[in-house]
Amino acid sequence: METTQPPVIDIRTIAVVGAGTMGLGIAQICVQHGFPTILFDLNPTILEKAQQAIAAGLAKGVEKGKLTAEARDAALALLHPTTDLVMVQADLIIEAVVEKLTVKHQLFQELAGLNSATTILASNTSSLPITRLAAPVPHPERVVGMHFFNPAPVMALVEVISGAATAPAVAEAVFNLAVQLGKKPVRAADAPGFIVNRVARHFYVESLKIVEEQVAPFTVVDELLEATGFKMGPFRLMDLIGVDTNFSVTSAMFEAFHYDPKFRPSRIQQQKVDAGHHGRKTGKGFYDYS
Ligand code: NAI
Repeated sequence: METTQPPVIDIRTIAVVGAGTMGLGIAQICVQHGFPTILFDLNPTILEKAQQAIAAGLAKGVEKGKLTAEARDAALALLHPTTDLVMVQADLIIEAVVEKLTVKHQLFQELAGLNSATTILASNTSSLPITRLAAPVPHPERVVGMHFFNPAPVMALVEVISGAATAPAVAEAVFNLAVQLGKKPVRAADAPGFIVNRVARHFYVESLKIVEEQVAPFTVVDELLEATGFKMGPFRLMDLIGVDTNFSVTSAMFEAFHYDPKFRPSRIQQQKVDAGHHGRKTGKGFYDYS
């Protein structure tokens, strides 16, 4: 008996929406691997900074001998920054905007209106269920999770998450693309926080509790954990991730796990967010980078 194979989806052009901590790194990998890539952000200052960071990232590759100067120039020529959403048309759109369901919903609906029904809408969300993200989007079968890790150009792992409606060919296309981008994709279930963030949440939440209970200052927690072999202690890592993003992820998981106290967000972290101390990207978080 003949079996019908699902059609293979060819991804030739990419757009990355959100040029913050993650978006700029994802865009860098895409151009480095030869994909014409549109990079969109609402904020022109952030977009400008992202371009500079991508150029610096590629220059570092040349310095380290991982990239030739010609390859760097070719990669930079493939990057198309824009603040005009109408320009965001591609075979694959990877959104890396703030971790807020309402913002992502609105964005995907706008992008669905600007693109063909076959354009893949991938989310770099750390915690929001793909099924819920896809629900109001026309053609939810083309919505998928493509979760990179920070820093995106360095970390090999990519979680590929299918929601209830995701077409198998869409998940397959994103999985294959991750391989083409030199990554190690892993299929993860559509559970809150998927795999890595669910485990990692306790690294942050418990460390914040230790500080809140005045068991030890945050610098000591970092030093001790780094001495046991972690590359970065939890507070240094939160500053790298973005204290605001980390807080949003914890809050989303707290809600998704029906307010299980083990995921309760910390007051200390809330205060940092309120004060605008979001970590390296604002020059101050738990540590001072000024
Ligand atoms: P970020 O705060 O550094 O950057 C978000 C960017 O999105 C900002 O530049 C902002 O101007 C832009 N933005 C906000 N609303 C927008 C809209 N409607 N349209 C276009 N741009 C918009 O955030 P970050 O840390 O890069 O996180 C982005 C996503 O990636 C989140 O879903 C987060 O959970 C996820 N993520 C974050 C990681 C991290 O370590 N920071 C790791 C893996 C995933």
